[in-house]
Amino acid sequence: METVTVTPTPMPRIGDKAPAFKAVTTQGPINFPDQYLGRWVILFSHPADFTPVCTSEFITFASLEKQFAAVNCALVGLSVDGLFSHIAWLRTIKEKIEYKGMKNVEVKFPLIEDITMEVARKYGMIQPGESSTKAVRAVFVIDPKGIIRAIIYYPLSLGRNFDELQRIVVALQTADAFSIATPADWRPGDDVIVPPAGSCGVAKERMSGKQDMKCYDWFFCTKKLSKEKVLSTIMKKPKK
Ligand code: BEZ
Repeated sequence: METVTVTPTPMPRIGDKAPAFKAVTTQGPINFPDQYLGRWVILFSHPADFTPVCTSEFITFASLEKQFAAVNCALVGLSVDGLFSHIAWLRTIKEKIEYKGMKNVEVKFPLIEDITMEVARKYGMIQPGESSTKAVRAVFVIDPKGIIRAIIYYPLSLGRNFDELQRIVVALQTADAFSIATPADWRPGDDVIVPPAGSCGVAKERMSGKQDMKCYDWFFCTKKLSKEKVLSTIMKKPKK
């Protein structure tokens, strides 16, 4: 009997260029990531159409689409179902499902059909210990240069936390715009972390308390960054 060997594709990592692909979606063909350059994107997978956790997630994603767009972030979904299943499921969501006060929800972002699992495999979304026939709930946050900046994988049974997905996009944009880092549970308006001092002199000066910073020790200093400044910076219109 012939043995078929499937060579595993390496998992994409933070800092890698987002693997390129062309596919069919509910909004027409997609050329990823090229057609999204200049915008942030959340590329996410779900296990299957017509399933409850996925339905709750799609309704939530679609309801938040404008808020993601306000920070120049597009949404792109994927499952290993076919296009007609996607279309029928999204129509059912719009016409029949009311969830937590959200109803008549139209999913306007593209949902990729991936019946060959080619894209799902490229992105490490098929994790056989969990399921070899369905994608796990993967989230790839990709920046305007097409670089993967954050990755989260959730199992089939666990719906995503959308506050956290928004927080990730806003925190990464803030870190890029202000050359800072963001501490645990950071939200716009909270203090941010200044990069480590490059020399003993700079560290001593910071520790002296004369600068507009709070230093917990020589390696851990924060400064204020107002919510207004964060939001007015990241919510600017993208450059054409
Ligand atoms: C769900 O979305 O409800 C689901 C999908 C696949 C496996 C388990 C749950």
